[in-house]
Amino acid sequence: MVAVINPEIGGVSTTNATSVSDASPATERIKKFFEDKDWKFYAAVFAGVAVAGAGAYYLTSGSASSKKQKKPASKKSSEGTSAKGKETAEKADSTATSAADEWANMSAEAINDMSADVRAEAAAALKAKGNSFFSSKKYQDAIVNYTQAILFKPDPIFYSNRAACYANLGKVDEVIADCNEALKLDSTYIKALNRRAQAYEKKGKLSDSLYDFTCVCILDGFKNETAAKAMERLLKKVSEQKAKELVKTKKQRLPSPTFVSAYLDSFRQDNTPMSSAEGDSGNAYYNRARKSLQEKKYDDAMEAFDKAVELGCSQQAQALNMKGTFVFLKGDTQGAVENFNKALELDSKHVQTFIKRASIYMEQGDIAATFKQFEDAIGIDPSNPDIYYHRGQVNYINGNYDAAAKDYSESIKLDESFVYAHIQLGVVQYKLGSISSAMATFKNTLKKFESSADVHNYYGELLADQQKIEEALEMFSKAIEIDAKNPLPYINKAMLMYQVKGDIQQAMDLCKGALEADPSCDAAVASLAQILLEQGQPAEAVRYYEMAIDLARTEAELEHAISYVEATKTQIRFAQEYPSAVPKLNALRG
Ligand SMILES: *[C@@H]1O[C@H](CO)[C@@H](O)[C@H](O)[C@H]1NC(C)=O
Ligand SMILES: *[C@@H]1O[C@H](CO)[C@@H](O)[C@H](O)[C@H]1NC(C)=O
Ligand SMILES: *[C@@H]1O[C@H](CO)[C@@H](O)[C@H](O)[C@H]1NC(C)=O
Repeated sequence: MVAVINPEIGGVSTTNATSVSDASPATERIKKFFEDKDWKFYAAVFAGVAVAGAGAYYLTSGSASSKKQKKPASKKSSEGTSAKGKETAEKADSTATSAADEWANMSAEAINDMSADVRAEAAAALKAKGNSFFSSKKYQDAIVNYTQAILFKPDPIFYSNRAACYANLGKVDEVIADCNEALKLDSTYIKALNRRAQAYEKKGKLSDSLYDFTCVCILDGFKNETAAKAMERLLKKVSEQKAKELVKTKKQRLPSPTFVSAYLDSFRQDNTPMSSAEGDSGNAYYNRARKSLQEKKYDDAMEAFDKAVELGCSQQAQALNMKGTFVFLKGDTQGAVENFNKALELDSKHVQTFIKRASIYMEQGDIAATFKQFEDAIGIDPSNPDIYYHRGQVNYINGNYDAAAKDYSESIKLDESFVYAHIQLGVVQYKLGSISSAMATFKNTLKKFESSADVHNYYGELLADQQKIEEALEMFSKAIEIDAKNPLPYINKAMLMYQVKGDIQQAMDLCKGALEADPSCDAAVASLAQILLEQGQPAEAVRYYEMAIDLARTEAELEHAISYVEATKTQIRFAQEYPSAVPKLNALRG
């Protein structure tokens, strides 16, 4: 067994500067699931498994097997491999071209009366004639000869060759029709599949094209890199198209409560006493919003802050700050900035708003503006520990681990009651290679925050990364015991059960536990789907991948979730239509 847990331990998301919950392998995986630009890495949703060579996802198998130079999967794939970029026709075995003339213009009836041997001879001669026209690019003439050849003998190669002529003439529909005929006669005819795939793509029938390219790849064991690339390209195109459609009708909503809590908890809360306002005033709504926050009823809180802002309240800058925060969490960075700017117009010294504006600039990739927010905030209140903690997060994401460690330490010096600063300090020390300081930090933090599920969870991750499996399992179990509503330790434990202990049932049960704890936990959904796929249960896997589509919040997330569904469905369809080739598919699954 190789490394079990993603070595990117504690990797904070690149898109959400200030989220602690992202600092986990589970979320790393989900990030990979949703954001990886390299499609080959899709199998790495389950980090480690793919690396071990048991990649469930055929894209990965593809890149691996193309190096291994597998035997041609089909006898047809070895025919006419002389593709020169242009459409080519299968070469004739016979060169008796002049003899062909006697077969020209012969009626169907006359042909029917001939013996099979004679017909085969005639067909071969006609094909040879067609091929010679084809070589001199006289496609129209070649078509006449292939058409005649088909009358003598309905051979898939003749259809496929005629399709090649049509392809060179740009007649896409005819290409598809001829490939259909060829494939009726020989469903594993790779050339015809390739040709039809290209025609479908030209016609914009992307799903059909994806399916054909997929069949090509599986049938020939991923030998043809051009076809493998085409499959990836089509998968991306199909997913992009579907995501664009879906995102139009998708309601923007908040991420999972776990995620929202982690984000909100990374700011010290407003502890001012509540006013006594009741009824329908802005102040009353502001109070209600704060109460909902405490109860973790985030949708209610969001609505109440909106209302408070609309009606106006005595804490208007803070209300705008919170409204902007929820807008940001829903994925609308521009809307968030507008609210933050308004908050700062009302109260130019509202430190927390500067910090939150920093995460937006970070997400937009504007590093200079990001750090400027922190400088401004320090200018206002150099003793605010939130500033250093969040600057630490930004430094961490940018790989400035030394600076990040300093920031976390500064934040702790100013207020040591904030558990995430300790956790992140431990994680960054680990990143810096100071394993013993990291372990010491975690041990102390564990003593200090005995009842924090997060400390147990992250400490468990570091232990797992060091292959201290039993200790790690213990930490995850403890974390679950402390807070049954936090899905991350379930998923981490599931990973170990699956990858190290090989206990598939318990791994699945734990993932389901995570999903019960937090029904919008996308990491749980992705993990379950991946296990099922690896267990050869693609139909079950699709159900969970489809849940991931429901949970996706941005177009990019949608696209990635869709790509899984599409790829898996394509495999299922392949298995149905090519039952005899299923062992091949399973071999690729490893
Ligand atoms: C092949 O096609 C050419 C051009 O259409 C035609 O003149 C010729 O008779 C055909 N030959 C046969 C054997 O069908
Ligand atoms: C076949 O018919 C076409 C026209 O229908 C004619 O031009 C061609 O000469 C004929 N070929 C033979 C070999 O009879
Ligand atoms: C490989 O795939 C490409 C794209 O589908 C196709 O055009 C080409 O003919 C294939 N090459 C071989 C040798 O089959």
